[in-house]
Amino acid sequence: MSDPRFEISHLARAELLSPKPQETVDFFTKFLGMYITRTEGQSVYLRAYEDPYQWSLKVTESAQAGLGHAALRTTSPEALERRAASLKDANVDGNWRESDFGYGKTFAYQSPDGHNLELLWEVEKYQAPPELQSKILTRPSKKPLQGIPVKRIDHLNLLASDVSAVKNSFERHLGFRTTERVVDGDTEIGAWMSSNILGHEVACLRDAQGERGKMHHLAFYYGTGQHNIDAVEMFRDYDIRIESGPDKHGITQAQFLYVFEPGGNRIELFGEVGYLHLDPDGETKTWQMSDIDTGLAIGGAKLPWETYFTYGTPSPLSLDQHIEKYAHFGPGGPGPDAAAAAQAAPDEIGQSRAVAGAPVS
Ligand SMILES: [Fe+2]
Ligand SMILES: [Fe+2]
Repeated sequence: MSDPRFEISHLARAELLSPKPQETVDFFTKFLGMYITRTEGQSVYLRAYEDPYQWSLKVTESAQAGLGHAALRTTSPEALERRAASLKDANVDGNWRESDFGYGKTFAYQSPDGHNLELLWEVEKYQAPPELQSKILTRPSKKPLQGIPVKRIDHLNLLASDVSAVKNSFERHLGFRTTERVVDGDTEIGAWMSSNILGHEVACLRDAQGERGKMHHLAFYYGTGQHNIDAVEMFRDYDIRIESGPDKHGITQAQFLYVFEPGGNRIELFGEVGYLHLDPDGETKTWQMSDIDTGLAIGGAKLPWETYFTYGTPSPLSLDQHIEKYAHFGPGGPGPDAAAAAQAAPDEIGQSRAVAGAPVS
């Protein structure tokens, strides 16, 4: 087998499902300044002003929110063949298909937890029409005069019933290295993985309900901390639900702001990028639960237990219903899912200063 390191270049695109597609598209265009590059059937294709290809985000109408799929671009056509062969040799079900608008042949498969993933090499580079051409040569299109525009798609965070299985698959078949992880005793409950110098393009957190195949969040990149401050003011004024931030994670050292787009998916806005992994054989850093407050939020922002640690998409409940159900613990409070989630929470979570409203064990 060939060495899989450096055969995946980056996260090229993701598809979000939304029960409120127009409001979801408005969120990405009006607030985050993304451009629509195509509308087809029940889907709208969008890109941020520094995304290199025809689209980085597809919003598709669906009964429930969630991740439709995410696609990673390889570093060459041969790397694509090798990565697909590695998955097939391990009896992972996958198939070749002609891809979507703006992309070529694609290998589609599922993570061990059932997330829809795709690998591809062939892309159509975005060519701006004259009115959108930037004078800055590395910029594929002008920065739009709308909202607080994001530069590009950044990363994907998956929820999984088994974090280690998902992590092992990314390491073994796609050559990702795990830059950081969180353990609760012997159990991995979080892993941050990368194929390049970024701290992560894919992360995976343990699903508190033990369910499979959900998404925690999709992130878009600003690269400037002030933009997270400007964005949170905009979201507050225009009634976009804010979950937590702006603050800075210890894990990855990146600046975060979490909000919910109107369809119910959690979106992270990424301020400064955090630690860059220039050392090619750097070791995985392991966070213990005893250090989790620093890991979650250096500045002390609270991550709500009833959403951040329990909610992913698709969700059987709307966000409001979920909060209602998970916010009330104590005698007579929790339903069966909430009780199971409380059970799954590491003991230290109840004592954590960074976790708001956690069940004290
Ligand atoms: Fe994230
Ligand atoms: Fe984050």
